[in-house]
Amino acid sequence: MKTSPELVHEFVPGTSGRTLLLLHGTGGNEHDLLSLGRTLDSTASLLSPRGKVLENGMPRFFRRLAEGVFDIEDLKERTHELADFVAGATQKYGFDPANVVAVGYSNGANIAAGLLLLRPETLRAAFLFRAMVPLVPDHPPNLSKVSVLIAAGNRDAIARIEEAQRLATLLRDAGAELTLHISNADHGLTGEDVDVAKQWLAARTKGSADSQLL
Ligand code: MLT
Repeated sequence: MKTSPELVHEFVPGTSGRTLLLLHGTGGNEHDLLSLGRTLDSTASLLSPRGKVLENGMPRFFRRLAEGVFDIEDLKERTHELADFVAGATQKYGFDPANVVAVGYSNGANIAAGLLLLRPETLRAAFLFRAMVPLVPDHPPNLSKVSVLIAAGNRDAIARIEEAQRLATLLRDAGAELTLHISNADHGLTGEDVDVAKQWLAARTKGSADSQLL
């Protein structure tokens, strides 16, 4: 039997059928986004892995060669590893594999976009905060059942709005129901990002914590 890859992680059981997959930024860890996850969704289970690539001691989800220049082979390998980890966690913790919503920030948003492009079956929806195009797949995925919110900052010098727009087009062309929100912000998360994300989720769950995303 194939064993699932292990990643250091936190799992916090919830009371609804939804699970948020929390993916931190460079230098973060499995604790970073727990409170953001709980703020966005008071009833979901939370699954929060730590990226296992180290850059000068800082955890990341995949290697990069320079700022904004990704090691594509490593990115592909790590994306499949993360998807397999999530599949293993659905068995281990007994949550619904069809109701997993990624919440990714920066490097975490980039690997969440990698999941959408390479392993689309992993996610029902994704919040991508300060994301870039991680790679362009050989075969476009079918994202017709997936909802995505990209939250970009117009003063972000790392994940520039042109990148967010390029990612929005790529995901929309693959069939995703896509919202691109651009705020007056830099790379850091703001209260506006959180408010927009909460409203976006509420609109897609009819305000009911237990309902599936539409
Ligand atoms: C990345 O490497 O994924 C992006 O440049 C974002 C970052 O982590 O700085």
